[in-house]
Amino acid sequence: MKGWGLLLLSLHVISCLVSGVASGHTSSYVRTEFPSTDIPLESEWFAIPKGYNAPQQVHITQGDYDGKAVIVSWVTPEEPGPSEVFYGKKEKQYDQKSEGTTTNYTFYDYKSGYIHHCLVDGLEYNTKYYYKIGSGDSAREFWFETPPAIDPDASYTFGIIGDLGQTFNSLSTLQHYEKTGGQTVLFVGDLSYADRYKHDDGIRWDSWGRLVERSTAYQPWIWNAGNHEIEYRPDLGETSTFKPYLHRYMTPYLASKSSSPMWYAVRRASAHIIVLSSYSPFVKYTPQWWWLKNEFKRVDREKTPWLIVLMHSPMYNSNEAHYMEGESMRAAFEKWFVKYKVDLVFAGHVHAYERSYRISNVNYNITSGNRYPVPDKSAPVYITVGDGGNQEGLASSHKVWWCLRPWFELSSLMTPSRTTLHSGRPVTAIQFYN
Ligand SMILES: *[C@@H]1O[C@H](CO)[C@@H](O)[C@H](O)[C@H]1NC(C)=O
Ligand SMILES: *[C@@H]1O[C@H](CO)[C@@H](O)[C@H](O)[C@H]1NC(C)=O
Ligand SMILES: [Fe+2]
Repeated sequence: MKGWGLLLLSLHVISCLVSGVASGHTSSYVRTEFPSTDIPLESEWFAIPKGYNAPQQVHITQGDYDGKAVIVSWVTPEEPGPSEVFYGKKEKQYDQKSEGTTTNYTFYDYKSGYIHHCLVDGLEYNTKYYYKIGSGDSAREFWFETPPAIDPDASYTFGIIGDLGQTFNSLSTLQHYEKTGGQTVLFVGDLSYADRYKHDDGIRWDSWGRLVERSTAYQPWIWNAGNHEIEYRPDLGETSTFKPYLHRYMTPYLASKSSSPMWYAVRRASAHIIVLSSYSPFVKYTPQWWWLKNEFKRVDREKTPWLIVLMHSPMYNSNEAHYMEGESMRAAFEKWFVKYKVDLVFAGHVHAYERSYRISNVNYNITSGNRYPVPDKSAPVYITVGDGGNQEGLASSHKVWWCLRPWFELSSLMTPSRTTLHSGRPVTAIQFYN
């Protein structure tokens, strides 16, 4: 069975077609499968931009709660250089400037370049901005578009990608995503798979940053960490968790009153997006638990009818791979997902595609004996899309046959298009690409 590379979710409130999006149809695209080995470091796909100390690995993410700011990040290899972003609404006319910060880190025998993070805020909605980083001959120029204002009727198209890695399958996922018209990526964790290397860990983080720049420099990727970001390596003398990830990838966590970049929320167009960390404490009374409890209270379905949750390890999973790993988070949070009628929960981790019916298991506790999930109209739909193409390959072995798994839909044979979710809005296009 071929794996699903990515999902495209278009939130529409009126019957309209976004160019290039065939509403309500499962795509016929079939991804060619390449060997599950990483692209060689000397490949052109990892090319270092020309010029002394030229900025590389450029990526942007949402910089505030409501989409009027971006954080621009990049790496300069030789020296820190200026941490400035010049920007404006006209090409080559950069009449505004933001100042950022620089950081660097070591990991085992690797010494990072200078990693810059710069908040560009006070932007207007629905506007194309051009920006420039670096100086002199080494300067580089890019652009991005801000989302529409927070509005229940705002249409927007998100791509959902997880477990990407840096093989030719990863590249294929990326190239295909670029053709879809997706405006922002909701990334469900496991970025570079650099942790599979010892000496080359940092080098593979750098190569991944250059590989994905073709997308990440031009549209926000909403980051979420997976197990490959933990990088707890006492054998290498590296005992602080998420070290490379936290130095390289920023999230606007303070804007949603979170105490950690690992979990946070953003609102974009008509969606409220909650990002949870499968690998940070989340049981009752932990910071993530308190934060989520309060964040759910801030959700305003009048303004953002779509309520979407991202996590790495799926709460419902019938694959042999990572079976039951999401159960502890289910026990902690499912009650709230049902109470607040979350529309969609996206996860990665399992390198396969799977989508649940609207089910819950909130009545199960250690004494109740009600151990099976039951249909629940208030429950979310759970979608796993963890087969971005990393070098571990696909997970195609399920615990039980499809016909014996009443909680899961027959993936590719069905499409939830035009399903009305809790938002009360029709999904005119959820597309699946494999
Ligand atoms: C960061 O860069 C500075 C300036 O080059 C250097 O002195 C310092 O050792 C670096 N720190 C780490 C943790 O690599
Ligand atoms: C667990 O299930 C039992 C039996 O259904 C019920 O009486 C009890 O209230 C439940 N406990 C919790 C904490 O939900
Ligand atoms: Fe994973």
